[in-house]
Formats: sequence, C-alpha cells, structure tokens
Amino acid sequence: MSHHEEIAAAPADPQIPFHRASVGEEEVQMVSQVIRSGWLTMGPKTIEFETEFARYIGVKHAIAVSSCTAALHLGLEAVGVTPGDEVLVPTTTFTATAEVVTYLGAKPVLVDVEENTLNLDPGDIARRITARTKAIIPVHFAGQPCEVSRIRELADEHGLHVIEDAAHSLPATYHGVNVGSLSELTAFSFYATKTLTTGEGGMITTDNSDYAERMRIMRLHGIGRDAWKRYSATGSWYYEVLAAGFKYNMTDIQAALGLVQLGKCSAMRNQRCKIATLYTSAFKRIEVLQPPATLSDRESSWHLYVLRLHRDRLKVSRDDFIAALKQRGIGTSVHFIPLHLHPYYQKAFGYHRGDFPIAEKEYERCVSLPIYPGMTQEEIQRVIAVVSDVSEEYGA
Ligand SMILES: Cc1ncc(COP(=O)(O)O)c(C=O)c1O
Repeated sequence: MSHHEEIAAAPADPQIPFHRASVGEEEVQMVSQVIRSGWLTMGPKTIEFETEFARYIGVKHAIAVSSCTAALHLGLEAVGVTPGDEVLVPTTTFTATAEVVTYLGAKPVLVDVEENTLNLDPGDIARRITARTKAIIPVHFAGQPCEVSRIRELADEHGLHVIEDAAHSLPATYHGVNVGSLSELTAFSFYATKTLTTGEGGMITTDNSDYAERMRIMRLHGIGRDAWKRYSATGSWYYEVLAAGFKYNMTDIQAALGLVQLGKCSAMRNQRCKIATLYTSAFKRIEVLQPPATLSDRESSWHLYVLRLHRDRLKVSRDDFIAALKQRGIGTSVHFIPLHLHPYYQKAFGYHRGDFPIAEKEYERCVSLPIYPGMTQEEIQRVIAVVSDVSEEYGA
C-alpha cells in the first residue's frame, strides 16, 4: 500500500467495548489505604462493607463472599438442600445458577421463561413442582425483577424456599421494595462486568438470623463466628470447627473497592437508565427491532440492554447482525445460551433442544448492547446510529 493510499483510507472507528468497568481514582485510593494498613484479607473493611450494604438494601444481614456463585451455594446449604432434592432454575441464565444445585447433590430442574421479560415463567414453575422440589432460584434477568409475588405464593403453597439470584439486579425494586429484601435469601454478584464491582465478589442478604449465622460460619471453613479475628489484637488463637465449611470469604481489598462503588451505585444506575431510555426511544421506531419490555410495577438496574430482532423482517441471522455491529466497532454479547442447549445439562439431566421453546426462540434473536455509566454521549449516539444503519441495511 502506497503512502497516499494509507492516508486516503478511512480511519478505523474507535471501538466501543461491550463493557468498561466504572472504577476511578477514589477506588484506587481506598484500595491503596487497605494495602498500606497491612490487613489484606477479610477484616474491618469487609465488615463495614456488609453493614453499609445491608443499610443500602434495607435488610438485617449481608454476608460478603468471594462470588455470587459462592453466595448461592451458601444460601442453598443454609436452607438445607440435600441429595435427591430438586431446585427450580430458569433455563435462560448463566450456568452458575444451576451448577450450585449440583454442589449439594441436588438436581437443577429447568423452567421456561416469559416472552416479554425473559424472566422465569410462574406458570411453568407450577407445572414442574414435584414432591422432591425444595427451592426455587429466580433470576432477575438483565436487572428487571421477576414476578416475585407470584413466585412467593407458589413457594408458600408448596413449602419451598426462595433464593433469588440477583447477580444482575443491584439496585432494582419490585412494588417499591429493594431486591435483596424481598425473599428469604438473595445473592448478588460483584464480578468485573456487574453494576457494582469488586473484581470478583458477592454478597448474600437475609432477614433470617439463623441462616445468616450458618452462612457466616460456612463461608470460612465452618469455623465458629468471627474466625477472621483470630489474627487481630482483640482475637484469640483458639477456634472451633463446627462443620465442613468452604473458603468463600471476601478480602478487605475487595471490600474497599466495594465501599466506594456502593456510594455511586444509585447514580450509576441512573446513568444506565438514561442510556436505556435513549436506546428505546430510538429503537422502538425501527421495524426490525424490539426494545426490552419494561413493567410499571418494578424498576430495573439496567445491567443489560437486551435488544431482540424480528428475524422474519431481517435478511440475515442474529449472528450476522452481531458480526456487522462488530465490524463497525460495537461490542455486543448474548444473554444467555439456554442451559438445556449445553452438553453438560443434556448429558447429566437428559434435556434436549425443543424442551423450552420460548427460551430457545428468544435466545436466537437477542443481542446485548453496551450499557455502562462510563459511556460518553458520542458513544451512545454512535451505538444508536450503527444499530439503526445495520437494521436498515439488513431489513427485509
Ligand atoms: C445470572 C447470574 N448468576 C450468577 C452469576 C455468577 O456470578 P459470579 O461470577 O459472581 O459467581 C452470574 C455471572 O455472570 C450471572 O449472570
């Protein structure tokens, strides 16, 4: 290529990644402080983070752990899920939601989702309850709370526990009440891409003091309460192991990051909400696009913006649509490949393609767009412009 041609070539558009973590100088300062303090793992900062988190949600207990996966596992263990039990889980979720059920020797029983919200369908829950069903793990897909009241009714009617998977839904409300205080137990994720991040991390909330006590013990090797204090000035070398627990504690380095993030959590949610509003007002006018449904009795955290394509009005597949966005610099993702389409769930539990028609059909036409507080106005407008252009180009 000659020098002249190089100059003539259009400059590549800067990429808009699917996600960029919103962490700043304040987080760096707080983490540095903890590192300088000399107390690196679970300690005073973790306790402070738990206290602040519980206050933010409006719940009695918040127990900080290493991931949402750990939180879900501890929750299931606390309510007494044992081998032979069945636990209902939506098929449209990340594998963690169902995988934890197998940790306890129980069986994840998949449930189809509602077409409008992609949240688990209470009607299908009712159909799949058996004498062995012990619990339900509802997922608030993309951050929009599922039908909590209806799920509670079903759970009460059949004596089931409810452990919410709120990996996507911080902060979110249902009938004006914060997710995290709606059910017996709620698990949050602070993974790098989540709405509050500690790099890796999680929290489990509950108003039940017995569950809280059990989970505090089980997150740190089954050692009696306040095991973390044994290396502090006020602690003692003596401890007792009460159960075969896990190594699921959070570290103070993570908690420092989490405390700063918690202070910005509502403001960051408002930023995402604004982006969602801009996206929806642009995309609702485009025939091939279906913006996410919003329900008036609940508020989403807007962790994800899941656009759906009207495939019958498009000349190309969802995958080609994604490739075209990628080529024009827009990073996207797909949430989620339904669990029953994965080899493991098919082999271990006998699920097949065709078992959950709504989840499958919706999976094949969804695309998650970038939505994070650090997006600039130009980036938001460029996502809108590129998605609109690609839609027009590929419209049938
Ligand atoms: C719905 C859902 N549940 C659970 C998890 C697991 O979270 P973590 O990575 O904190 O264990 C994720 C993570 O992506 C998720 O999307």
